[in-house]
Amino acid sequence: MAFFCKQQRTCYRCVNLMYRLRPTTPLTRGMMDETYFKSKEYRERTSSVTSFYDQSAIDQVAAKPSVRLTPSSLLYGGHSHDKSHLLRSAQYLYKELPVRLAHRIEGFRNLPFIVGCNSTILKVHEMYILAFHTLYGHGKVMDMESEKVYSETLATLLDQHKDVITLLAQGFSESRKHIKDEQLIQAFLDRTLKSRLGIRVLAQHHLAMHNEQSNHVGIIDVSFTPRVLLESSVEFLSKLCRDRYGCAPNVQLLGHMSVQFPYMPQPVEYIVGEVMKNAMRATVEKNRGNYSNIPDVVVTVANNNTDFIIKVSDRGGGIPHDIVDKVWNYNYTTAYSLTDDQEQTGGIFGEVMSPAGRAGESVSRMHGYGFGLPTARAYAEFLGGRITLETMQGIGTDVYIRLSHIDSISSINKPNFRI
Ligand SMILES: Nc1ncnc2c1ncn2[C@@H]1O[C@H](COP(=O)(O)OP(=O)(O)O)[C@@H](O)[C@H]1O
Ligand SMILES: [Mg+2]
Repeated sequence: MAFFCKQQRTCYRCVNLMYRLRPTTPLTRGMMDETYFKSKEYRERTSSVTSFYDQSAIDQVAAKPSVRLTPSSLLYGGHSHDKSHLLRSAQYLYKELPVRLAHRIEGFRNLPFIVGCNSTILKVHEMYILAFHTLYGHGKVMDMESEKVYSETLATLLDQHKDVITLLAQGFSESRKHIKDEQLIQAFLDRTLKSRLGIRVLAQHHLAMHNEQSNHVGIIDVSFTPRVLLESSVEFLSKLCRDRYGCAPNVQLLGHMSVQFPYMPQPVEYIVGEVMKNAMRATVEKNRGNYSNIPDVVVTVANNNTDFIIKVSDRGGGIPHDIVDKVWNYNYTTAYSLTDDQEQTGGIFGEVMSPAGRAGESVSRMHGYGFGLPTARAYAEFLGGRITLETMQGIGTDVYIRLSHIDSISSINKPNFRI
């Protein structure tokens, strides 16, 4: 097993790990009813991974392929008069989520030994094992009663996993000196973050279908208006920027400001938030001592039948030649090259991470871990889009965020992406 070193029986770390991950009696799927979930046994099982780790179940489920949904099936399958869509959705998740979690657990097990042993990364690995067993051992979803219990479990897991990105950012930052193969870590994090986004979108969509909101099907806003999202992000980020620096650049919104189309606002809010806080930071830092005359950040929206594009342009001095290729690497940051004490202890972008917080992610500090751009790119790619960056050293940077529509004619015949 990639997890253990060659001296595993004499290495205290391996022995400790083997004890913590030791197999116990396999769970029997579908045998539990609601009383089980209220029982002491259930509480004990879900409180500690050691009490119910079953590797053979994980291996078995990991061998199955994931079944990804088209976004239009989320949009058009999200309503029925007899609520049968809720049951169908829960039954799909009941089958699908253990498969996705098992794939991720395999990913953790294949990390280089020394990296996988980092206590923060190990903690996330254990959270995935715990989530797998909670969902794999869950009572079957057969009627609205069991669907309710299942949805409660999902809501609890979503909450328990909200800090995962921060934990991974921290864990990989701690084990950076042991990382020999950058590509391997980059691929692991891309896959983990894309898969996590998919799981969260599906689970949040399912939960949102319980509370029907006007203009919404689950988490899809059928009249999504980029202008509204951008205005609220700008307001939020500007305030945080001002709290830290005492000032924030003005943000101009241009282009197709009145367009509306169905989309999921949460991931857009996250991606745009990351790109915009980089633009604000660069602009403010470039203009230190000249706060009365800070250039605007300009955000332009373009919409067409296939996709929509959001361009964020700043005049923050651009990205130097020697680092421009590194900015997409996880954990690459220039945040701590600042001399200002306040900024070294978290800086403006500590809390500016919070647009993600509003989207149900962790509000913990992320700035300085260098996860903003690579995470935004992984999310955009997962959604059938991409992010590209052009920088003019000495002047500023343009970032293009391009995302596929979920209901274009072409995407219905041949989906641009699946969730
Ligand atoms: N618009 C920009 N202007 C100048 N530098 C930038 C810009 N966007 C990103 N960068 C550089 O890329 C690095 C990585 O960005 P990111 O992944 O968001 O991580 P973080 O913001 O935590 O440093 C930043 O530290 C900064 O040096
Ligand atoms: Mg950033």
